[in-house]
Amino acid sequence: MTDVATTKQEIRSRVAAARSAGRSVGLVPTMGALHVGHRALLDRSVAENGFTVCSVFVNPTQFGPSEDFERYPRQLEQDRLLCEAAGADVVFAPSPQEMYASDHTTWVNEERLTEGMCGARRPGHFRGVTTVCMKLFHVVVPDRAYFGCKDYQQLKVIQRMVRDLDLPLEIVPVETVRDADGLAVSSRNQYLSADDRVASLALRRGLLAGREAVRGGERSARAVAETVRGEIVGQGRLQVDYIEVVDAETLEPSAPLSGRVVVAAAVYCGDTRLIDNIVIDVESKE
Ligand code: PAJ
Repeated sequence: MTDVATTKQEIRSRVAAARSAGRSVGLVPTMGALHVGHRALLDRSVAENGFTVCSVFVNPTQFGPSEDFERYPRQLEQDRLLCEAAGADVVFAPSPQEMYASDHTTWVNEERLTEGMCGARRPGHFRGVTTVCMKLFHVVVPDRAYFGCKDYQQLKVIQRMVRDLDLPLEIVPVETVRDADGLAVSSRNQYLSADDRVASLALRRGLLAGREAVRGGERSARAVAETVRGEIVGQGRLQVDYIEVVDAETLEPSAPLSGRVVVAAAVYCGDTRLIDNIVIDVESKE
């Protein structure tokens, strides 16, 4: 039985008991509405650690004032069952009041990798993400924490924070899980109508077209981005929030494109914002 801890004290004592039994600790931070993408992170943690904690916390500080904090899906019992099926040991589901003091005033800011992409489009977003992850790392004290490549910039920002601030844990990246039609699985896909879903596939098609362009010899980031844009805009129903083609480590311009680059894009389908990315080895033909 996978149970739910709602206080920091409870989760600390559960983890302490596992530690004194000699188990290593894996943490999978999530905002809930768990799906097969989260499941891949959980499976990996369960395989690599004696004790797995899944945090489920819709973190208010990473949502902008006009974003979907209120309507974000909340389904704790379903989430608990998914964690149980994966073999996770405990769900940590604190309330916002438990997580943040009412007069919380201390933040963690990464200042370089957060400049572009989602950081530019969602002011304050990454400050909320880094701060809540730092808090979760301090509360749970995991040996390893699992992050999906789907949120590529988030993964890179968290890796940088861990390096820069000497946090004693390993960040384990996990490949993006996709539906059979190629759409990256996301909690926000629940917002999509059947027509929206079909339209959303153009995001993945665009990224694949971008990769084809690079494989075909294109070395201009702008030209690759235009190829991606053409595919997405051609669909008619999607609006581009951003398309960036940048170095996969620094997230800075690569001109001409070389080494490993990431093509990352965010689109709106109605009010729903979807993101996806593809990492390309520029010199490789595979
Ligand atoms: P959330 O969107 O719930 O995602 C939790 C984790 O699951 C993230 O690391 C994300 O990259 C990963 N994930 C989501 N969809 C995935 C997919 N299709 N394939 C592989 N991994 C996937 O990201 C957050 O929550 C929050 O920002 C959080 C890190 C929990 C901080 O609040």
